This record gives sequence, structure tokens and C-alpha cells, in this order.
Amino acid sequence: MELANVLLEKDGKIAILTVNRPKALNALNADTLLDIEKAVDAVAADPEVSVLVITGAGKAFVAGADIAFMQPLSAMEGREFGMLGQRVFRKIELLEKPSIAAVNGFALGGGCELAMACDFRIASDAAKFGQPEVGLGITPGYGGTQRLPRLVGEGMAKELCFTADIIDANEALRIGLVNHVVAADELMDFVKKVANKIASKGQVAVRLTKAAINEGLQTDIDRGMTIEAEAFGLCFATADQKEGMAAFLEKRKPEFTGK
Ligand code: CAA
Repeated sequence: MELANVLLEKDGKIAILTVNRPKALNALNADTLLDIEKAVDAVAADPEVSVLVITGAGKAFVAGADIAFMQPLSAMEGREFGMLGQRVFRKIELLEKPSIAAVNGFALGGGCELAMACDFRIASDAAKFGQPEVGLGITPGYGGTQRLPRLVGEGMAKELCFTADIIDANEALRIGLVNHVVAADELMDFVKKVANKIASKGQVAVRLTKAAINEGLQTDIDRGMTIEAEAFGLCFATADQKEGMAAFLEKRKPEFTGK
């Protein structure tokens, strides 16, 4: 697979997607978004991969959509470019496999939006977050107006978007934008440990849990309970459920097959 702006590697059951345009702080132009999409499609289709980790090369995670690329766009081209980023990030959000953003540095604008499209975020102590778009005379365009308030609440999201303030990793932890902050040189080891823990569980159950949470957040509690009951029931048709419960009762470690 030809990917000019993204690296895709495997480490056991983990796929690591690294946005790799360090000279532009990994800013997202159309080609980079399309590379991310191709890499995510490859992860979706690879039966050996259980968890996707997204990170950035160099000192940035992603410093946003590419400002030089956007500067000359017309209204219709801007709309199209926004919809391209939305499509790629929604694909990450809906990927059946869990995804973790390993935020190594600047996660601004489209970079913060990429991190928010992952299931959760783990930051290095060097990470910085923000939605600086209004300072450029635009709104967030890759889901920031929708995902940020869902993650940190309406008031905090509005303050961050209206002021364009950049916050550090500890503030991101305080407001619930990231789950953990770790030393920069320990970031990937820590993220891999979390990813491997997820990969060691029953994968059908992990995927059904992700789908139930995602779908449930978009609906009322009664419909959400129905979604959960369907997912829960379906687990009893899997080999993993028989194995997981047998292992518990026999006081041994389960050997899941993802079936
Ligand atoms: N687009 C294009 N190029 C970018 C970029 C971006 N978003 N961010 C950084 N770069 C480029 C710089 O132009 C610079 O290139 P040159 O070496 O060719 O001059 C190179 O990356 C290094 O950047 P700096 O010299 O600025 O590095 P710094 O350490 O001094 O500052 C920074 C780092 C604070 C992140 C600063 O680069 C910055 O503010 N970047 C822009 C952040 C931003 O506004 N992001 C939002 C973009 S809009 C968006 O994302 C819309 C959306 O929702 C879809």
C-alpha cells in the first residue's frame, strides 16, 4: 500500500498509524486525510489487528488542517474539504475495533478533532490541545463542534472554541478530554500496555460494547437499553462467552479466539 504521509506498522495485535508530515507538524491536507482513510480501511480488514493506535511523528500529534492548503479555497471547496475530514474521522469513530489516540504533542484544530474521533486519548506531558479555528476566521470543521461538547460539556467546549485557548495535558486531563497523562518517553509503552490489555479480552464483546456505547449516546435511555440487551444476548452465541465463563469457573486464564 502506497502511503506518502502516514506510517502503518503492526506490533502484535496492535496497529500503529503515525501521521508523518513532521515538517508541517503533521498538518492535514487532502492527501494526508486520504492516506489516513486508506490505513484505517486496512486496519478494518486485517483480522490480526485488534486495536488501532493513532499518533504523530516528531513534536506534533497533528497541528490541524493544513492552513496553506485551505487559504485559497472557495466556499464549496471548503465545504468539501470539511466533509472529507468528517468522513475519515467518522470512519475511525465507527471502526469496529477500538482506537486510542497517543497524543505526543500539539493536537490543535483538526488534530484535536482526530484525537476526539478515537475511542479515548492518552497524552504525553508535552501534549497541547485546542480548537484555534476562530483565530483563523473559520469554525472547527472535522467534528469539533459536535464531539468536544459531548466529551467535556457545552460550557467548556464553547469557551475553548470561542477563545481559541491552547491548554496543556494536565488541563486536558482535568476537563476529561484525556484519560491519562504520562511522561513523553513513556507514552508509547503505556499506550501499548493499555492496547494489549484490550486485545487480551473477548474481541466480539469489546466490539459490541463499543457499538452499544456509540449508538446509545445518540439515542434515549430506553432505546439504549434495547441496544445493550441485543448486544448482551448476541454474546451468548459466541465461543468467547463459553470460553470466558468456563475459564472463570475452572480458575484458569481464558483463551479467546474472537469467535
Ligand atoms: N497548517 C499548515 N502548516 C502548519 C500548520 C498547519 N496547521 N501548523 C504548523 N505548520 C507549519 C508551519 O507553517 C511551519 O512551516 P515552515 O517551517 O515552512 O514555516 C512548520 O509547520 C513549523 O511550525 P512553527 O514554526 O509554527 O512551529 P512552532 O513550534 O513555532 O509553533 C504551533 C507550533 C503553535 C503548533 C504553530 O505551528 C501553530 O499555531 N500552528 C497552527 C495551529 C492551528 O491554527 N491549527 C488549526 C488549523 S485550522 C483547522 O484545523 C480546521 C479544522 O477544524 C478542520
